[in-house]
Amino acid sequence: MTITPNGYQSGFGNEFATEAVAGSLPVGRNSPQRVAHGLYAEQISGTAFTAPRHANRRSWLYRIRPAAMHGSFAPYAQAKATFHNEFGDGPVSPDQLRWSPLPMPANGIDFVDGLFTMAGNGSPVSQHGVGIHVYAANRDMHGRWFYDADGELLIVPQQGRLHIETELGVLDVEPQEIAVIPRGIRFAVTLPDGEARGYVCENFGAMLRLPDLGPIGSNGLANPRDFLAPNAAYEDVEGEFELIAKFQGHLWRATINHSPIDVVAWHGNYAPYKYDLRHFNTIGSISYDHPDPSIFLVLHSPSDTAGTSNMDFVIFPPRWLVAQDTFRPPWFHRNIASEFMGLVHGAYDAKAEGFVPGGASLHNSMTGHGPDAATFEKASAADLSKPDVIRDTMAFMFETRAVIRPTKQALDAAHRQRDYQACWAGLKKHFDAKA
Ligand SMILES: [Fe+2]
Repeated sequence: MTITPNGYQSGFGNEFATEAVAGSLPVGRNSPQRVAHGLYAEQISGTAFTAPRHANRRSWLYRIRPAAMHGSFAPYAQAKATFHNEFGDGPVSPDQLRWSPLPMPANGIDFVDGLFTMAGNGSPVSQHGVGIHVYAANRDMHGRWFYDADGELLIVPQQGRLHIETELGVLDVEPQEIAVIPRGIRFAVTLPDGEARGYVCENFGAMLRLPDLGPIGSNGLANPRDFLAPNAAYEDVEGEFELIAKFQGHLWRATINHSPIDVVAWHGNYAPYKYDLRHFNTIGSISYDHPDPSIFLVLHSPSDTAGTSNMDFVIFPPRWLVAQDTFRPPWFHRNIASEFMGLVHGAYDAKAEGFVPGGASLHNSMTGHGPDAATFEKASAADLSKPDVIRDTMAFMFETRAVIRPTKQALDAAHRQRDYQACWAGLKKHFDAKA
């Protein structure tokens, strides 16, 4: 069973409307007494009914069977119980941390079973914070669907394409693209390349949105028209299947006797979407110094405090470096925010080695970090009379207001680089008061 993609609709949070069978969408009302073609009408709300209009998200689905139809849920035991929201309540070391890529599993493991929780903060109970996960999978989800009631899923593939069949349509994504699946939307992931690895940010807070642009103006950074929501696509299939739910930090399983990917038409602004990070309009200095890295913000989840995000999704894409009398790589810094970083493609310009595609690093609040010794020496001696270009790169950061707590399994993992701090050990003392 593979659903053929039905194309995309362009725009961010638009009032989309799409039907896979002509005449399925009601005209002039959301829930007529009888929907065309014998479909059921069902609303899914992603924000409070009374949220301000600009933030209000809901969609109307016209489907073969309502979402209520499935067996009772029982606890679901993932093969190694690696996907959870147990971020611990003990002390958190302020150490800089770094990991090599999550190894590919030996046996057939699908997307849901292949999720491995690295870190997080907050909780689904409090409705703020994030879960930060990586995945490594080499089996399709067949006859099984998943939804996450705890958070919106921002999926960042690093290796291998994902074919994601959702209730609202199909998203095909490849590395250097992202997919966002809203809370509650059911989906299955198949792997066109046979195996896949990547990162997932599970956002417990306010839904991701585009940042305001202030003096940048009406264009720039991630442009709304480059966000793509799927057109309706469905299957009408019956059988012995399973529905996996993540609810309040735990996984649950119910039987379901039909495919839940049975939405024939839908309209609204609560929908999954994809975005190609290579379309990001990167803005930087054309005189001296760097702007703060907030200039690389793609999407953010606001908190209750203006200007302070629950989570920022930031990328470091290819770009020209032209600043004069300037140390061109990212500078040494300590921030109040906490930074979980990953690399999708190529190399990252602040590290000579050790930070590879599929790897990750964590620099928590007020923990010093920055370029390694080799990068510092090279950039300090670079010829600034010429522009420099970073062509082959795509790094990203999940940056949060609260401290990111690494999980025990992440700290204990064999692929953690226990010698990470040594990358700064070679920084020489250059101070000379008389020079
Ligand atoms: Fe940083």
